[in-house]
Amino acid sequence: MNRRRSVRKYDPNKPLDPEKVKQCIKLATLAPNSSNMQLWEFYHICSKDTLQKLSSYCFDQNAASTAQQMVIMVVRKDLWRQRVKSNVTYLTEVYGDKPKKEYSKRAKFAFTYYTKIIPVSYVDFLGILGYVRFAVYWLIGLFRPIYRQARNSDMRIVAHKSMALAAQTFMLAMADINYDTCPMEGIDSLRIKRLLKLPHGAEINMVVSCGVRLPEGVYGDRFRVPFDEVYKKV
Ligand SMILES: Cc1cc2nc3c(=O)[nH]c(=O)nc-3n(C[C@H](O)[C@H](O)[C@H](O)COP(=O)(O)O)c2cc1C
Repeated sequence: MNRRRSVRKYDPNKPLDPEKVKQCIKLATLAPNSSNMQLWEFYHICSKDTLQKLSSYCFDQNAASTAQQMVIMVVRKDLWRQRVKSNVTYLTEVYGDKPKKEYSKRAKFAFTYYTKIIPVSYVDFLGILGYVRFAVYWLIGLFRPIYRQARNSDMRIVAHKSMALAAQTFMLAMADINYDTCPMEGIDSLRIKRLLKLPHGAEINMVVSCGVRLPEGVYGDRFRVPFDEVYKKV
């Protein structure tokens, strides 16, 4: 935790082993994520040519122009149907392929979760169904606690939250092997989407540049507001 800093200048003489970076990306996929839907993709950029283009789409800020490699964190909310299938296949492996009534209560709930509850949350049509859900939940919420993340925009936040946890997991894994990173949202997400030939439904969460820090690559001591201002014991 203490080693990880946002590094803005990397050492040009210290290349990274792409296999080690790949391993850190693999560790990132262990991050907790909403409903284990894993609505993420990780684009590991190693080619000089693509790095150069990507740097210009990150406005050639130092963290990008000196990067040895970069990882683009892509949210794929549009893949929810595929992820439901993967989860159902996994559950069938775990609980066995048998008639529904033979499943335990826990197994039945798990199947219902992925085949009924998740589709109700993720299905959308031009953002309209999200507002219908929101209104229904709001009405129910007058009488009992209810899940509120119903609109399309809420579901986008849900997916981006999980992706950010994976990004942080990646950066910590990198720090653990003395590799440095800088998360960046100062980017042209549309051009990056085009560069990766991503479909309309994909969204760039952030770009993480990677390298080995130069001493001057860390811009000063860490600044945090006093802990008492953000720590609230209830
Ligand atoms: C979502 C996100 C976006 C960021 N975007 C940029 C960026 O575009 N350029 C940059 O130099 N730093 C960026 N940062 C790094 C922050 O400025 C940095 O985390 C903060 O100043 C705290 O410093 P530390 O990471 O060294 O603890 C970003 C950080 C996060 C979490």
